[in-house]
Amino acid sequence: MMKGCKFTVLKGIHVSIALLTLGFLTIMLWPRQNNPFLTTFFLHQQRFRHPSSDVLVNAPNISRSSGGHTKKVNKPILKKEAPMTGKHHNSSSSTKSVTTFTSDLEDSDEGELSAQNADCNYAKGRWVADSRRPLYSGSGCKQWLSGMWACRLTQRTDFSFEGYRWQPKKCKMKEFNRFSFLRRMRNKTIAFVGDSLGRQQFQSMMCMVSGGKEMPEVEDAAREYGLVKPRGAKRPDGWVYRFPSTNTTILYYWSASLSDLVPFNRSDKNSDVAMHLDRPPAFLRRYLRCFDVLVLNTGHHWNRGKLELNRWVMHVNGKPNQNKEFEDIGNAKNFTVHSFVRWLDSQLKSHRRLKAFFRTISPRHYLNGDWNTGGTCNNTVPLSRGSEVLQDESNDKVIESAVRGTQVKILDITAISELRDEAHMSSYSIRPTQGINDCLHWCLPGVPDTWNEILIAQI
Ligand SMILES: *[C@@H]1O[C@H](CO)[C@@H](O)[C@H](O)[C@H]1NC(C)=O
Ligand SMILES: *[C@@H]1O[C@H](CO)[C@@H](O)[C@H](O)[C@H]1NC(C)=O
Ligand SMILES: *[C@@H]1O[C@H](CO)[C@@H](O)[C@H](O)[C@H]1NC(C)=O
Ligand SMILES: *[C@@H]1O[C@H](CO)[C@@H](O)[C@H](O)[C@H]1NC(C)=O
Ligand SMILES: *[C@@H]1O[C@H](CO)[C@@H](O)[C@H](O)[C@H]1NC(C)=O
Ligand SMILES: *[C@@H]1O[C@H](CO)[C@@H](O)[C@H](O)[C@H]1NC(C)=O
Ligand SMILES: *[C@@H]1O[C@H](CO)[C@@H](O)[C@H](O)[C@H]1NC(C)=O
Repeated sequence: MMKGCKFTVLKGIHVSIALLTLGFLTIMLWPRQNNPFLTTFFLHQQRFRHPSSDVLVNAPNISRSSGGHTKKVNKPILKKEAPMTGKHHNSSSSTKSVTTFTSDLEDSDEGELSAQNADCNYAKGRWVADSRRPLYSGSGCKQWLSGMWACRLTQRTDFSFEGYRWQPKKCKMKEFNRFSFLRRMRNKTIAFVGDSLGRQQFQSMMCMVSGGKEMPEVEDAAREYGLVKPRGAKRPDGWVYRFPSTNTTILYYWSASLSDLVPFNRSDKNSDVAMHLDRPPAFLRRYLRCFDVLVLNTGHHWNRGKLELNRWVMHVNGKPNQNKEFEDIGNAKNFTVHSFVRWLDSQLKSHRRLKAFFRTISPRHYLNGDWNTGGTCNNTVPLSRGSEVLQDESNDKVIESAVRGTQVKILDITAISELRDEAHMSSYSIRPTQGINDCLHWCLPGVPDTWNEILIAQI
């Protein structure tokens, strides 16, 4: 319990007292303490709109040096690791080829970087082949990667999809380094809340941060968030892991609709479930204050079939929905996403350390049918739909319009991922015997790793 979300120790005490105490402590400590956590936090806060570099965040005293790998960091607690496939980054190189782009970044100083990245759109750019991909081994990351998404463990023989990196057009993106990332996320909690595609992004993050290597020292902190598998359930509602070296926590919570779900009868497994479109999930209302980074998504459960399967009954204002417009489920989704973002934005004012991202919808690639009518996605030729995204707008209008004008940031991966039809589970899905192709979920390692790289560039 000691290491949990630091406020859970107050469990049982009235929330307003907890908040008062928090406010009091914040006021008392904030301006005076020379606590590195607060310093980190403060710098982070200032740099919210820019992708912060490890160096800046960790070390108020930045000394420039000749190469990115030799920049000084105060109190380094972990040594740096060479990129997985070991290409040396020569910071004085000026050639701009597919594999030398990181040198651009490590050459530039912070001022230059933030000026360039302040208004850049990570969703604009191109896929490039990169021998330093994937970032972890699909057969090695057994500790966190579900077997059903590890294409290396299936009959699939073509893995060309693993060898691509996203190159934004105008923003510089630093090569992922798990040690510097962990260091940057010291004492912080990253939470993914959403559907199974959110869970894929979570597993990808776990594999990226561990390098796909066994890490028996990583702690299971699910209990601190009340996430235990209910008796008879297939799986818990979420998972929480903590890397003890930096006290970094990574969490996933299943909330496919981002609405509050309340069974009519809690003791009946087959009970209908009130789906409160205008109320965020209780889990988030309770634990939002524990998070430093929050990544949300929803989308693929907003259809009649899923609603019926889950026995979700739409409610608005605490009562069964009367609004005829919501018979079009797309309207109900739009309403929910907008209410959710409005709530989250209002919360951000009192949770200033939290950076919240709404990930746009992950595209499906069914051809010649849908998931249950023989649709397939059996192309294996990478980028046969093109490799570039040049548009400024997102292809996900719902999320784009919901976050506009708020402090919630968009993590726009839709158009990027649309170019990657070859990277789904395809016929190597968990139900191949039923002839069902999975053109919704992605092989891991794969496209969700890129979503995380784009996320990391912005936190
Ligand atoms: C992490 O939290 C612990 C306990 O609150 C504190 O002692 C430590 O300085 C923090 N580390 C950083 C890097 O903020
Ligand atoms: C910053 O670092 C440089 C080089 O390590 C050192 O000479 C200088 O005294 C440091 N400044 C402060 C304010 O710590
Ligand atoms: C980096 O590249 C420059 C110019 O291409 C070259 O002179 C230098 O020796 C290289 N350094 C390393 C460490 O590879
Ligand atoms: C871990 O980080 C949390 C803040 O996220 C802090 O409250 C806690 O004291 C830290 N624990 C240790 C052992 O540093
Ligand atoms: C709730 O479900 C349980 C188990 O099916 C049943 O025994 C009980 O009567 C139900 N309660 C109500 C209020 O319907
Ligand atoms: C979605 O909801 C917002 C806010 O209620 C509304 O302004 C917008 O027109 C809606 N968009 C669609 C496509 O229904
Ligand atoms: C791919 O799927 C289509 C049906 O959508 C099928 O006609 C075709 O034979 C398949 N190609 C391969 C190589 O399996």
